[in-house]
Amino acid sequence: MRLDKYLSDMGVESRSVLKKEIRKGLVSLNGEVVKDPSVDVDPQHCEILYKGEVVQYEAFSYYMMNKPTGVLSSTEDRKQKTVLDLFSENHRKDLFPVGRLDKDSEGLLLIMNDGTLAHKLLSPKMHIEKKYLVEIPGKISEEELDRFRQGIQYDTDLVAMPAKARCLSSSEEGSQVEVIIMEGKFHQIKKMFLALSPDYVVSKLQRLSMGPLHLDPALAPGEYRKLSEEEVQALKNCF
Ligand code: URA
Repeated sequence: MRLDKYLSDMGVESRSVLKKEIRKGLVSLNGEVVKDPSVDVDPQHCEILYKGEVVQYEAFSYYMMNKPTGVLSSTEDRKQKTVLDLFSENHRKDLFPVGRLDKDSEGLLLIMNDGTLAHKLLSPKMHIEKKYLVEIPGKISEEELDRFRQGIQYDTDLVAMPAKARCLSSSEEGSQVEVIIMEGKFHQIKKMFLALSPDYVVSKLQRLSMGPLHLDPALAPGEYRKLSEEEVQALKNCF
């Protein structure tokens, strides 16, 4: 692989910046400065330094984001801001969000370039639990939440798998409910509440966890961080 392509794939800088930086002598290969951006490298078997720092080869990169409301869970959009627009300029270009949170939803969103793992995490057959904090207007009853626990029909031909539901607070002003589902169909949580009552229009929807991973409280909305090796392993151990 070309040196400039390798460095841009690893998210160091854009290819055009790298070409200039390499020509300036800011990159070394096995201890020798290289000034040719097209030089062929085998990143798994050589040491590459950019501005004196090792650029470690990573086949897969995994991140957790605290998705803010108001951005799309997609890689790019001509008009609206996406979660990948929140990444620094020089992120690797093959990242994608694992599943979707609606534009007005927030919370834990995994972003990675590992298609096999993402596919498994999203498969309803794998029974990966996703926990949401939901706010609705009005007072909800345990009988209503029992309908979630039994598996509620929430669209003409859609019946949810039995969900877990826990009321955190409830009064005439509004209710806070924690709901755990193992699927992730389009607008599923919102539709499940509307199936109970047309008054239950979700006003806040925050994903708190996905499988073994919990939203990191240190991440402000819009912030993201790499998953630790233990967190990646915990995801892989789900299957
Ligand atoms: N269910 C929804 O309705 N919206 C989301 O963003 C996630 C789950």
